[in-house]
Amino acid sequence: MSGKELTLVKDAFESNWIAPLGPHVDAFEEEMAQYLGVGHAAALSSGTAALHLALRLIGVEAGAEVICSSLTFSASANPILYEKARPVFIDAERSSWNIDPELLRCELRDAAKRGTLPRAAIIVDLYGQSADYNRLVETCAEYDVPIIEDAAEALGATYQGRQVGGFGRLGVLSFNGNKIITTSGGGMLVSDDRSLIEQARFLATQARDPAPHYEHSSVGYNYRMSNVLAAIGRAQLRVLPERIDARRRIFSLYREGLGELPGLTFMPEATYGRATRWLTCVTIDQRDFGASRDDIRLALAAANIEARPVWKPLHLQPIFSQYRTCGGSVAEDIFAHGLCLPSGSSLTDADLDRIVEIVRSMSVHN
Ligand SMILES: Cc1ncc(COP(=O)(O)O)c(C=O)c1O
Repeated sequence: MSGKELTLVKDAFESNWIAPLGPHVDAFEEEMAQYLGVGHAAALSSGTAALHLALRLIGVEAGAEVICSSLTFSASANPILYEKARPVFIDAERSSWNIDPELLRCELRDAAKRGTLPRAAIIVDLYGQSADYNRLVETCAEYDVPIIEDAAEALGATYQGRQVGGFGRLGVLSFNGNKIITTSGGGMLVSDDRSLIEQARFLATQARDPAPHYEHSSVGYNYRMSNVLAAIGRAQLRVLPERIDARRRIFSLYREGLGELPGLTFMPEATYGRATRWLTCVTIDQRDFGASRDDIRLALAAANIEARPVWKPLHLQPIFSQYRTCGGSVAEDIFAHGLCLPSGSSLTDADLDRIVEIVRSMSVHN
């Protein structure tokens, strides 16, 4: 927390708007839409809820195919299964760890030939870095496949100077406790299409039709964000630039401390944009480094420092293994060798020194 949240939370209490609507919800939506440069936003209970509503709004039906990046958290694809649709996973490209635009193009070309184009494409901005939208938007537009941008991990990153979140028909944000800014739990759905966001608010508040009694003609959800949490979110949004600077500084300190070690490579920053470095991630080549990713992880754990393997590709997850995948070897390789180093904005220089020292001590070149 920045210290500014309590003032706005107090305001929520004093106004007695302790509900999943209220002035802070409205203001948080407006301020976020303005920050991102998108027309409209609906504050929701989570990023997962936002993804689920995005699929509903696009009209993804049972049995339809939905493209999804493979190298991501399961929440990117779980809502596809909520709707009984079928994910098609696409491998990552090395230069950004995000979905490979060439593979996506091949898949859409083949799908068009088969006459089974996917109903939507969920494009993830991984670990604080934008996907390559010029290529992705062009390909998806050619085949008329709407993009849902999962920017849950990348709020504040840019692509050619534009904020992530606004590249698809719908964009998804998360304010979960581990994200660059947080409301403890929360999310947002954004779009330039006002009617989609109005429809999202309707579905997120139990889909109550206009009538004096409770009338329902569609299935609704309880997905709205509380006014109290929106107050926290507004204060957090004000410190987002500082948080990005803090994460990028942490990355720079890791690079200074570890950058020259053979066998250790940082997640690349693609030339088309500016990443937030939400998490600092590395890959370890055991032959050159002298220890494996897991040796390093366990050495850190022995010092009570948590580091995690990068996401296990979704096409390898038991819950998704029956679905189709295009490629997969790049994501598999990143998973086999990738490690997310501690990256919280409040890490001190002394914390970072300790981590660097342990990682260095595992290298044969230290
Ligand atoms: C890529 C990605 N998509 C979606 C989500 C889901 O967001 P939430 O936790 O707010 O439901 C997360 C993280 O939690 C995520 O990392």
